[in-house]
Amino acid sequence: MDIKKLNQIYEGKAKKVFATDNPEYYIVEYKDDATAFNGLKHGTITGKGIINNKMSNMMFTLLEKHGVRTHFVEQVSDRETIVRAVKIVPLEIIIRNVAAGSFSKRYGVEEGRELLCPTLEFSLKDDALNDPLINDSHIIALGVASEKELADIRTLAYKVNDVLKEFFCSVGVKLIDFKIEAGRLPDGTIILADEISPDTCRFWDAKTNEKLDKDRFRRDMGGVEEAYHEIFTRISNV
Ligand code: TMP
Repeated sequence: MDIKKLNQIYEGKAKKVFATDNPEYYIVEYKDDATAFNGLKHGTITGKGIINNKMSNMMFTLLEKHGVRTHFVEQVSDRETIVRAVKIVPLEIIIRNVAAGSFSKRYGVEEGRELLCPTLEFSLKDDALNDPLINDSHIIALGVASEKELADIRTLAYKVNDVLKEFFCSVGVKLIDFKIEAGRLPDGTIILADEISPDTCRFWDAKTNEKLDKDRFRRDMGGVEEAYHEIFTRISNV
């Protein structure tokens, strides 16, 4: 696609977003910067931007094949991708298959316990408030999303889980949990946006339970770059 990158319109913790000469499209650029605990911890994961860009695009392509609409359009370089210009719904949409992280802490459940069914929860995307948990009625009452949008988001999230869980299982990886974001197209349609990467998912080796994701950075476990490479190698060899 012939498109010109224009001014930067947004910079997040892991990506920059640029306007283009076509208002229907943005270009996202993935950085190697890593943060945790709402930006309290900073670091660099060398090569992460390249892996997260390529991996997200592979996951979006897989999901599109299964009927999930995503913002992915075309990768233009190792770190840059053309995406549909959407307005992000300010929610972190989190699905869990196995207890870990904040869920384990909040409910006093050991990490690694299989949940009887996948769970869905939302956090309000607001750094100043530390992304607080938010429930459906609060989301609707505050106008963060409409009832119809919330229903679409729920369907989208569970579908993404079904597709990804099966895919990662086929490469010897357990999909513990993940966070996605949804965006609105100009006509109001909800589509999958943001990224799907070891920054935003928990991946455990199916045999050893070794962590192959950003928890290695969050928890100072070492072997961070190696984990990103390992997961990328596995999905690239399908
Ligand atoms: P949590 O257990 O810390 O709530 O994380 C749940 C999932 O969401 C996990 O796969 C990591 C991902 N996540 C993000 O992508 N961004 C965030 O800011 C946080 C806190 C978690």
